[in-house]
Amino acid sequence: MRKILLHPDPRLKKMCEPVTAVDDEMRVLMQDMLETMYDAPGIGLAAPQIGVLQRILVMDVVKDEDGEPHPLMMANPEIIWESEQVSRYEEGCLSIPEEFADVERPEQVRVRYLDQNGETQELDCDGLLATCVQHEIDHLDGKLFIDYLGPVKRSMITGRMKKRKKERATA
Ligand code: NI
Repeated sequence: MRKILLHPDPRLKKMCEPVTAVDDEMRVLMQDMLETMYDAPGIGLAAPQIGVLQRILVMDVVKDEDGEPHPLMMANPEIIWESEQVSRYEEGCLSIPEEFADVERPEQVRVRYLDQNGETQELDCDGLLATCVQHEIDHLDGKLFIDYLGPVKRSMITGRMKKRKKERATA
């Protein structure tokens, strides 16, 4: 399990480096990220959230009756198409716990990425998966969902987070 960084943290604002090869070390990192995400619990986690500034993310947005996991692991994900139609979802983030806000994004996107075997894949996403993958790719560019909000709302959230971080540090 890895420690999830909390906003505000300079590492959450950095542009991440592309992955050069999906090797065993990378697969271990992806598994660690998945376990950390499931434990949190969350539906998506990007590498910078655990302080690794590489273009990797993991997700699992499927809620099954039987509780079977449906993990997705992506290296170097890029959006190669997005719909003109937008949708609004109430988003949250493991790096900004207890804070939620509506964010508008394209309703559907097509993502190209390298999977855990280093194979190029393309995936059509809509609904929650589309929102989640765009949120996680934003992390790889140093962007958080609160960056879509107005300056007043954003600084209120950041203020509350600073307080929470202080409380946790002294707890
Ligand atoms: Ni997030």
